[in-house]
Amino acid sequence: MEIAGKKTLITGAASGIGKATALAMAERGARLFITDINAHGLEETRREVEGKGAEVCFCAPLDVSDYDAVRKMADEIHAGSGPLDILANIAGVALFSQVEDMIHEQWERIVNVNLWGPYHAIECFVPEMVRAGNGGHVLLVSSTAGIIGLPWHVAYAGTKHALVGSAEVLRYDLRKHGIGVSVILPGAVNTGLVRTVVINADEDACEKGRRLFSRHAMAPERVADLIIGAIERNKFMVITSMDIKLLYLLKRTCPPIYCQVLRFMTWFLDRTLTRDGMPSRA
Ligand SMILES: NC(=O)c1ccc[n+]([C@@H]2O[C@H](COP(=O)([O-])OP(=O)(O)OC[C@H]3O[C@@H](n4cnc5c(N)ncnc54)[C@H](O)[C@@H]3O)[C@@H](O)[C@H]2O)c1
Repeated sequence: MEIAGKKTLITGAASGIGKATALAMAERGARLFITDINAHGLEETRREVEGKGAEVCFCAPLDVSDYDAVRKMADEIHAGSGPLDILANIAGVALFSQVEDMIHEQWERIVNVNLWGPYHAIECFVPEMVRAGNGGHVLLVSSTAGIIGLPWHVAYAGTKHALVGSAEVLRYDLRKHGIGVSVILPGAVNTGLVRTVVINADEDACEKGRRLFSRHAMAPERVADLIIGAIERNKFMVITSMDIKLLYLLKRTCPPIYCQVLRFMTWFLDRTLTRDGMPSRA
């Protein structure tokens, strides 16, 4: 679908992939509805979007894990502007941890933001899109951890796998309504997440982990371009890097080798993030 003039809601618009997507959408003439829990960063995005001459129809901070807040935003947007054309679920948080080091609040936060967040938005916005009959697009940002059992990602991978599953269902359920669905699976991306990711390890190990991550990370603007391409061409699954495409191919075609690769990755991450391979308590 063409993006110019389309009413587009972006969650997580204050930083990283969400912000880069808002700016890329602005350049293509979308009418933007932006939100994030970070009010200051969101205001900054609003200024930059307006600087590109695009219209910001809605800009307010909220927590996507708070159903009442998302419902209130949806009511306000529907009353003022009608149904959305494009819903882009990008907000998310990350956690690296071995299962024995996690506290309950960490499980809850990952599930609440990464899974309930998109579900709240889908529940509150997609039925109106269906009833309007104008077609549209729903975008979910999953992760490499949505198709690969990455070590130290037990809760994060659970939420991101769930998004891939729900996206596949929506792809076929919404087809009859002319609503396309895309799920984006980024590898490492150089965003605010590199600083905000919670790593249950000691400080030196966290620094080492962050350096390793940034070294292989791509720019958020590149991911935003892939997101735009996915919406314009109605591509279902977009894996952002070649190494992950190969690993996913291996998973489907050659499980024994995939299993060896995952064993190696787990050993490598254990060695990088723990002292002498021993877990460090959070
Ligand atoms: N950076 C990566 O390497 C990477 C890799 C794979 C997937 N992803 C996914 O990409 C998405 C965007 O992440 P990013 O890398 O741009 O990180 P980021 O930290 O730069 O941006 C995430 C945004 O989400 C917002 N957010 C967090 N909790 C929220 C909440 N409860 N309610 C509303 N907004 C909230 C943050 O304030 C932030 O602005 C996430 O879903 C993440 O899981 C990122």
